Amino acid sequence: MTLAGPRVMLREFRADDASAVFAYASDPVVSAYVPWDTHADIEVTRGFLSGVLASADAEERTRYELAVTTSGGAGRAGEDGEEARLIGAGRISVQDARHRRGSIGYVLAPDYWSKGIGTEVAHLLLAFGFERLNLHRIEATAHPDNIGSQRVFEKVGMKYEGRIRDHLLFGNGWRDSLSYAILEGDPRPAAATRP
Ligand SMILES: CC(C)(COP(=O)(O)OP(=O)(O)OC[C@H]1O[C@@H](n2cnc3c(N)ncnc32)[C@H](O)[C@@H]1OP(=O)(O)O)[C@@H](O)C(=O)NCCC(=O)NCCS
Repeated sequence: MTLAGPRVMLREFRADDASAVFAYASDPVVSAYVPWDTHADIEVTRGFLSGVLASADAEERTRYELAVTTSGGAGRAGEDGEEARLIGAGRISVQDARHRRGSIGYVLAPDYWSKGIGTEVAHLLLAFGFERLNLHRIEATAHPDNIGSQRVFEKVGMKYEGRIRDHLLFGNGWRDSLSYAILEGDPRPAAATRP
């Protein structure tokens, strides 16, 4: 499956994506606020990808972890005429099918931050979740210091619902998260169109 936006495309991961994923997942700046550890070597990335590929083959698929790539071509996130480049990942998961509840998350390589791409990815994931997965409620969490991620949630119409205390355990320390969600009937600001 693929989800196409004006500047980026989301597609299924492949086993040969390991070096492109490792390039950002091994950067501590990228993983500062995410719930996974910085990839120490490419074997960690390969392990991540094999889990992703297995989840894509599951009989009842609940996890859509997708590669974010530049679309390539004039006016897109890639340079003119450039081939599509893998620049991150976007995920939507069905947390509870009975109650039609899901969650989203995303990560981008730092060269692509603050250009509206995180917002574009979130728009694509929400549209897929509501229109194709038939979800009623989609949730996301962010580290309290992760202002960029909170901005993305707000820009796609997600509402702040509160602070989850001691949500994640890192080493010996507990970490709070900020909780956001959007319902299928909530207003969703229009996604950007192709520049
Ligand atoms: C979070 C992330 C996906 C955001 O993507 P992005 O493409 O930079 O997001 P956008 O450009 O669409 O929007 C981010 C907004 O926050 C702003 N912003 C980013 N970092 C900021 C900061 N530290 N302080 C204040 N504003 C910040 C951007 O300027 C932009 O503002 P604008 O809408 O007024 O232009 C990206 O920073 C990332 O991959 N971070 C590492 C992984 C991560 O934290 N993932 C989220 C886990 S919850």
